[in-house]
Amino acid sequence: MDSNTIPVMEPDRQYYFMNKCKELVLDLKAKKNRPLTYCVTTFGCQMNAHDSEKLKGILDELGYVEIDDENADFVVYNTCTVRENANKKLYGHLGHLKNLKKKNPDMIICLCGCMMQEKHVVETIKSKYKFVDIVFGTHNIYKLAELINIYFNQNSQIIEVLDKSEKTVEELPQKRKYKFKSGVNIMYGCNNFCSYCIVPYVRGREKSRRPEEILKEINLLVSQGVKEVMLLGQNVNSYGKIYDYTDGKMDLQEEKLMSFPDLLREVCKVDGLERVRFMTSHPKDLSDELIKVMAEEPKICNHLHLPFQSGSTDILAKMNRRYTKEQYLSLVDKIRNAIPDISLTTDIIVGFPGETEEDFLDTLDVVEKVKYDQAFTFIYSKRTGTPAAVMENQVPEDVVKDRFQRLLTRVNAISNSRIKRYEGQIKDVLVEELNHQDNNLVTGRTKESITVHFPGDSSLIGETIAVNLKECKGFYFLGERTS
Ligand code: SAH
Ligand code: SF4
Ligand code: F3S
Repeated sequence: MDSNTIPVMEPDRQYYFMNKCKELVLDLKAKKNRPLTYCVTTFGCQMNAHDSEKLKGILDELGYVEIDDENADFVVYNTCTVRENANKKLYGHLGHLKNLKKKNPDMIICLCGCMMQEKHVVETIKSKYKFVDIVFGTHNIYKLAELINIYFNQNSQIIEVLDKSEKTVEELPQKRKYKFKSGVNIMYGCNNFCSYCIVPYVRGREKSRRPEEILKEINLLVSQGVKEVMLLGQNVNSYGKIYDYTDGKMDLQEEKLMSFPDLLREVCKVDGLERVRFMTSHPKDLSDELIKVMAEEPKICNHLHLPFQSGSTDILAKMNRRYTKEQYLSLVDKIRNAIPDISLTTDIIVGFPGETEEDFLDTLDVVEKVKYDQAFTFIYSKRTGTPAAVMENQVPEDVVKDRFQRLLTRVNAISNSRIKRYEGQIKDVLVEELNHQDNNLVTGRTKESITVHFPGDSSLIGETIAVNLKECKGFYFLGERTS
């Protein structure tokens, strides 16, 4: 390789490596006399799902063909480590991959994502999973082509995990699952350090993208047929700052960009864009201005995901959430006063260290008072390295399981009765796909994020159709076109 010709600047550098890899993939294809395939499996949140679209974009560019079977030539696991069971799942899959690789020794196995940011995981892979070929973390996913190129040249395990983002490289290929909707990163990382949560350690410090870059990307997406965007960040309500970091510490210099509500207004101005969603909102930073923009802008979906985690003020303090039960409930009141029919969803953790029955009853109380359209419930999972992992009074497993069941029963009953309020209403449904069970039906979502199935064919995919929500079937509706 002539190092003088390798571009230093991104994204040119990655395009250079993509071209190099393309040639190598072509050679391999000729040698094997068949196409080369890839399979990307994603764990975790929307951030990871969106990162996977970037990885797939690069692999497509290199000439690999996507399949949804792990028996592929290039296998990627984009991992999550937010809870213990996410980790366990990966190790289970690796055992299976080892067998597949015995049959196809040229198979390249690549692990990336949040779990790879943990030192003990990388050590385990180095010592026990030597058949894994490429490992990288959350800060350098853009370098996939460069890392593959190194692998092709040296044919031994490549591990490149960075402690923090040296740079963020956009403008690389992306392969979207849906042509008509897309996630858009507006910020990376998290500065909140909720005491149970590993995300700030594996995703690094918060950093917002510049509004002009975000708008450029959205305009491009719309020109390609996108109608709905989901603005992504761990806490979109604190959008708007670029910090200058030195040695991992925040410098005093901080560049203020634009507030999140102002960004939303700009995004809504994009012609041809029909729907704007965002995720996730931290209650402590949710401003009156955001509520106003949501009430005023018809493109912003009538849905807010507002995790409360626990209803107990004591536990919230231990969680470092920086709001009380009362503050959360009055925030919900304020939102409902401004946008009466808004669909509210949330995340709840059961069994945080020190949680008493009384604390848990406070959580149930919030559930009863707010009446969520949907709630994602999690059993507290100890994450090594977080402050909560060393807190006293970890709650016994049987107590947690009992509370979890009681919570689940109430949450499901409430969301079942909430969703019924839409019965008989006509809503715009953005059609996403053919129904998996019945090909005479299509499946889509309303602005409230309700799933609707109704008679139709693949020509409707990507179209927005007015549908009568005729019959509520628990968590979804069976509907009928109005025209
Ligand atoms: N940034 C988002 C959440 C990202 S993680 C926010 O603050 O809302 C998604 C959810 O996983 C969290 O809302 C929380 O409910 C859950 N979670 C995070 N860490 C957890 C842990 N250690 N145990 C159980 N659930 C956890
Ligand atoms: Fe985790 Fe809290 Fe950051 Fe969300 S806001 S990612 S829960 S630390
Ligand atoms: Fe998991 Fe990482 Fe998301 S830990 S929840 S994939 S930010």
